[in-house]
Amino acid sequence: MNITVDEMEKMTGAMSSAELASERHSRTTVGDFTAADPRMTCRNVDVWYGSKQAINGVSLDIGKNEVVSMIGPSGCGKSTFLRCLNRMNDTIDGCRVTGSIQLDGQEIYDKSLDPVPLRAQVGMVFQKPNPFPKSIYENVAYGPRIHGLTNSKAELDELVESSLEKAGLWKEVKDRLDQPGTGLSGGQQQRLCIARTIAVSPEVILMDEPCSALDPIATAIIEELIDELRANYSIAIVTHSMQQAARVSQRTAYFHLGDLIEVGETNQIFTNPQHRLTEDYITGRFG
Ligand SMILES: Nc1ncnc2c1ncn2[C@@H]1O[C@H](COP(=O)(O)OP(=O)(O)O)[C@@H](O)[C@H]1O
Ligand SMILES: [Mg+2]
Repeated sequence: MNITVDEMEKMTGAMSSAELASERHSRTTVGDFTAADPRMTCRNVDVWYGSKQAINGVSLDIGKNEVVSMIGPSGCGKSTFLRCLNRMNDTIDGCRVTGSIQLDGQEIYDKSLDPVPLRAQVGMVFQKPNPFPKSIYENVAYGPRIHGLTNSKAELDELVESSLEKAGLWKEVKDRLDQPGTGLSGGQQQRLCIARTIAVSPEVILMDEPCSALDPIATAIIEELIDELRANYSIAIVTHSMQQAARVSQRTAYFHLGDLIEVGETNQIFTNPQHRLTEDYITGRFG
């Protein structure tokens, strides 16, 4: 935590120096950041873009069969933190990650670890649906093919079907598998991207504002899907919609200027936040 008194005052408004001191002091994470059955464990994660620190000592678990949502004002580091979880930040020049991030007990930043299979184990769905300029079938078959997951055309067909089925898209596309993925509606494209992620057997699925480009009906379908996917995967989702966080997640993490301020059961965070910054945000006084 590197924050000046001036910056603190700007964020918190006028406060007595005693209040200010206690507020500053309290900016270590409030709440239990561990999960009972963790799949990913992050400890003291710092992220730097050049000399600018974007994440300050964040510790957080992603548990088995749970959806963790990450909320907070724009620029607070949600996407940066999410990208740490499958080493997507490796692709950004000048970005440096320190601390410990483990998947099933294995350090994912270990020099000997190949990030390519890691990104299949920890898949990612982006804000804007980004199907490949290929057929619906090929969008889903591509990953299994390059990772050598199937041995025959029949097996691949089966995997494509089951992945589309799990993504709730099979019925809508089964008669047009050879048509371009980009010809689908926005919501269908996002489900196609989810099918593509599922096809390579991930353990964890990261979603960065997956519904922000979708209409309310498509959003509702994706939210239902996220709830179903929880049976088989661990999910970390960044959302700017508090309603969405409340609907889809079991735990919620509130970020502010690169700090993880508070984490807890979603219901508790939205009805009884412990930290003043969390309360200000969820009551709409900030951000
Ligand atoms: N590629 C980048 N290069 C430099 N700074 C970045 C980059 N991406 C994000 N940042 C900075 O890191 C901070 C956190 O950004 P981000 O993770 O995108 O926040 P959020 O997703 O919560 O809106 C911001 O100050 C942002 O400007
Ligand atoms: Mg973001």
